[in-house]
Amino acid sequence: MVDRIRSWKTYNPNGKYRVVVTKELPGQRWLEMLTAADCRIEVSTSTHVLNSDEIHTAFGEHCDGAIGQLTEAWGDPLFQALKNAGGRAYSNYAVGFNNVDVDAATRHGIPVGNTPGVLTETTAEMAVALTFAAARRLGEAERFQRQGKYTGWLPTLFLGELLLGKTLGIIGAGRIGAAYARMMVAGHHMNLIYFDVQPNHELENYMQAYAVFLEQQGLAPVTCKRIERLDDLLKQAHVVSIHTVLDESTHHLINAPRLGCMQENAILINTSRGPVIDEAALVAHCQTHPNFRAGLDVFEEEPSMKPGLVDLENVVIVPHIASATSWTRQGMATLAAANVAAILQDYPVWAHQDITPFLSGNAPPAAPSILNAKALGLRYFEA
Ligand code: DGY
Repeated sequence: MVDRIRSWKTYNPNGKYRVVVTKELPGQRWLEMLTAADCRIEVSTSTHVLNSDEIHTAFGEHCDGAIGQLTEAWGDPLFQALKNAGGRAYSNYAVGFNNVDVDAATRHGIPVGNTPGVLTETTAEMAVALTFAAARRLGEAERFQRQGKYTGWLPTLFLGELLLGKTLGIIGAGRIGAAYARMMVAGHHMNLIYFDVQPNHELENYMQAYAVFLEQQGLAPVTCKRIERLDDLLKQAHVVSIHTVLDESTHHLINAPRLGCMQENAILINTSRGPVIDEAALVAHCQTHPNFRAGLDVFEEEPSMKPGLVDLENVVIVPHIASATSWTRQGMATLAAANVAAILQDYPVWAHQDITPFLSGNAPPAAPSILNAKALGLRYFEA
């Protein structure tokens, strides 16, 4: 039997720069980009999470760059090892980078890339899917149907929640949170409240314009308001969706007292990072509040779940697949490869939010997204 953990596949074996990639990635374009940048690409074919020792070993005596996963701890020891192997570039295959110690990479002079701009709608769509799956009890109903328990239509079978015109609360009104809000408000005329350290004027203007449009149609306008205190948002919202980054300030942001603020039949959605919710507290809350519902794509200690979660009928769970569409996952691969290829070729860093020029045709000679570009004093690309 092939040892999947230690198996590596090599592309473009005669390439000048050696790039280690810790998981197989979808699509071809990322391989073409690295090949065009004269890279020899070594890809782990393991489906297990590689630990730091295994990644360190993969660097060998010489490694110019690496593409890693959100499941790996890219901290000082790995960046030190990469630096010692001659490494000059790292990209996370993710937009989130709570698994990366960016300061450590900066200390070792290594640019850190991520993959923004291609996950936005895909992740927001999954948040919408989880919202309706929770509101309309899809998991429970599907299990019931598959188990042959359906014996005839009943007026009281699987009563759920109607969302039309209700209040939607989002925590984190960045790109994904705002896309989710637009989908939910435009589709279901929900009134939006949001909690964020920064106001999102673009989102507010959009909602204002949409309210005017609805009035022109003779319909009740929607409202949009930034809420100063998270507890106030939790009290008012029928649906709460989390779209914040994970850092010290957001760890266990949703805990037992805050769950206690929420409405009895509220719906809580998380497609950001598991540790934003105290998962044990959520389990306890869902056990004692059967009309409360949750939809989770992420878990506090992935891949495991806190005891009791799996038995809860009022929780819909999926295995961290919010960004899992072919287009998005191929786009993420393209951006991660473009980050590493550009840095190895001494290209500057893309100065714009719109990364679509990297996805088709001729990519600009730039690294699409480097988190520590300023800290490292890298040059920016001016189109
Ligand atoms: C990310 O890129 O941060 C996502 O969580 C992957 O789905």
